[in-house]
Amino acid sequence: MLIRRHVRSEPRASEITPREVYLARRDFMRGGLALGAGLLLPGLVQARSGNGLNFSPGPFSTDEPKTPWEDVTTYNNFYELGTGKSDPSRNADMLRTEPWSVVVDGACANPGRYALEDFLKPHSLEERIYRLRCVEGWSMVIPWVGFELNQVLKHAEPTGSARYVAFETILDPENLPGQRRPVLQWPYTEGLRLDEAMHPLTILAVGLYGEELPNQNGAPLRLVVPWKYGFKSIKSIVRITLAEEEPPTAWNQSQPNEYGFYSNVNPDVAHPRWSQRTERRIGEFRRRRTEMFNGYGDEVADLYAGMDLKKHF
Ligand code: MTE
Repeated sequence: MLIRRHVRSEPRASEITPREVYLARRDFMRGGLALGAGLLLPGLVQARSGNGLNFSPGPFSTDEPKTPWEDVTTYNNFYELGTGKSDPSRNADMLRTEPWSVVVDGACANPGRYALEDFLKPHSLEERIYRLRCVEGWSMVIPWVGFELNQVLKHAEPTGSARYVAFETILDPENLPGQRRPVLQWPYTEGLRLDEAMHPLTILAVGLYGEELPNQNGAPLRLVVPWKYGFKSIKSIVRITLAEEEPPTAWNQSQPNEYGFYSNVNPDVAHPRWSQRTERRIGEFRRRRTEMFNGYGDEVADLYAGMDLKKHF
């Protein structure tokens, strides 16, 4: 993000895999894996019906037009798979998601290490159609499938001293080309204050458009915090830690004057190198005005009552 400055060119039609082709190819690969390994991601397979995940409509969904699947899955930031927007979809196969486990630890009475299927089993899936606003000035509307992070945190039983939640992405430099270059401090890390993490808008997503998350979107498990700039929504999570102190975060460590810990979408706080007043919805030509908290102010403004959000950007 923003280390290299260049004018983005729209993905060419030839670079975009039609959704049906993508799904057919993936199902074919899944079939191959099933034969080879004798099983598929059991938690997700149980939750699947036909080609998709089983989910019900959830609260807080916007009825704005959804960004097409092709754009959501080919215009990505996932630096582990490359810094160009089309790198993550092109290099998606380099992310190894099986086996996958998630550690929940830190200041909690009930820590654990879970195989992905055990981690997912207790949760029923919901669709949440959320706006995602990137700090670079573009935005999308994405139909995520997931569940509220607070379910995981409650199960962990945070101690009285837990005030933050830290997240970590997989570290696998052998397979992930971006992690062989010092673009960021690896593994990618992010953090939330505990009340932000407990907020019902904050979800762990396992799918989008009713399908399992494509690797480039952060398979098998990623955070989605719709009132914060997109970089807060850490992908491919392997660790969730209850913390007493504010945890370090990848972008804040990299450029602290440009990326604060809170990173709430705030048109009144310009990025040091450009304004945040407007954004371009992918697929649209004209820029639109950016809304405070990305339009989720009614739900989340109370979390920041009394805070100077210019100082805590
Ligand atoms: N998570 C990891 N592990 N690595 C990354 O480079 N990029 C962030 C965020 N999560 C990133 C990440 C940024 S800058 C954005 S805008 C969103 O992912 C993009 O999510 P999307 O590609 O699903 O739209």
